[in-house]
Order: sequence, then structure tokens, then C-alpha cells
Amino acid sequence: MDLETLRTQCLSCTRCPLHTTRTNVVFGQGVPTAEVLFVGEGPGQSEDEQGLPFVGRSGQLLDKYLFAIDLDRNQNCYIANIVKCRPPQNRDPLPAESEACMPWLREQFRILQPKIVVCLGRIAAQRMIRADFSVTKEHGTFIEKGGIWFMGTFHPAALLRQKQNKPDAFADFLALREKIGQVCEHTY
Ligand code: URA
Ligand code: SF4
Repeated sequence: MDLETLRTQCLSCTRCPLHTTRTNVVFGQGVPTAEVLFVGEGPGQSEDEQGLPFVGRSGQLLDKYLFAIDLDRNQNCYIANIVKCRPPQNRDPLPAESEACMPWLREQFRILQPKIVVCLGRIAAQRMIRADFSVTKEHGTFIEKGGIWFMGTFHPAALLRQKQNKPDAFADFLALREKIGQVCEHTY
């Protein structure tokens, strides 16, 4: 199955209660040949309205960091979320909602077979890396699991609130560029 077929299936998903309050399912965006996959938490208001990931203020910041290391969601990476439908009032996804939605992300993984996965924020990092992952203490560290390199960094929305973390976040993206040079074949 390809990503477009999977997207079509996902767009009609009713596996969890978030389907009742969404405007659009936010399946993901990027190129099907991506070796680098970014995983956020879940859609916010702008994403819910447009059906695309990271298109609000935090998305503009993410795009700046991507641009700085020669990544572009339309050229050489892919962006997805733990939950594909917006949690009301932007609350954290409930464990049951993340659990219900994970099969979609697993299928995205299976199709893309990324070399590097960057978890944006605690919710994604604790799902994808380790249940007790600390972004503050462990951001920027690459951890290999089953032949895939995982790294957790600050969520862009958190960086908009806590600007003092921006230099650390930027350093994580520079470390990402280095890692891409080492393990990716056609990203650069
Ligand atoms: N925050 C996220 O975690 N994901 C998005 O797609 C947008 C904002
Ligand atoms: Fe389906 Fe995920 Fe949306 Fe829940 S959040 S309805 S599991 S796509």
C-alpha cells in the first residue's frame, strides 16, 4: 500500500472520539521518499482547519529550522503526528486516543521506512522513544532502535513560549544535519 491509499483510509477514521470534533484529519505531509520523519503531538486549530501538519505559528518556526539545515517538507522530509485529529482546546491527547491512532503512524513508518525520526516534544518522544523520556535532559541525543535513529527535541510551540530554549533547539537541528550526512543516502 502507498501513502495516498493509506491517507484515503485515514480520512474516514472513527477509531476514537476525536473524530466527532475534528474539522479535518491531519494525516501528514511530505515526500514519499523521505528518509527523515518528524513526529509532532497532534493538530492545533490551524492544522485542523487546513488538514495539514504544522501550518500555524509553531509550524512557521519549524519550517525555519528545517530551512536552516536544508530540509523542506515538499522536498526531502515528512511530517506526521501521534494523533491525526485535533484534541479539543489543544489538550494533550489521552492515552486511549494515542493508542487508537498509533496504527496509522505505524503504517506510515512501514511505508516510509525512515532512517531518522525526530520527535517534536514530550508527547511524541515519550510515545516513540521511552515512556520516561525527558526533553529537557535528553534533547538532541540520538538513540538507535531497530536500525532507526530516534532523537527528541523541543516542541516548536514550547519554543514560542520559552524562547530561552531556542539555541538548544537549533543545536539539535545542527546535530540532525550531521546525522543525516552520516546515515541518509539521498536527503542531501
Ligand atoms: N503541533 C503539533 O504537535 N502538530 C501539529 O501538526 C501542529 C502543532
Ligand atoms: Fe482516527 Fe486518529 Fe482521528 Fe482518532 S485521532 S479518529 S484514531 S485518525
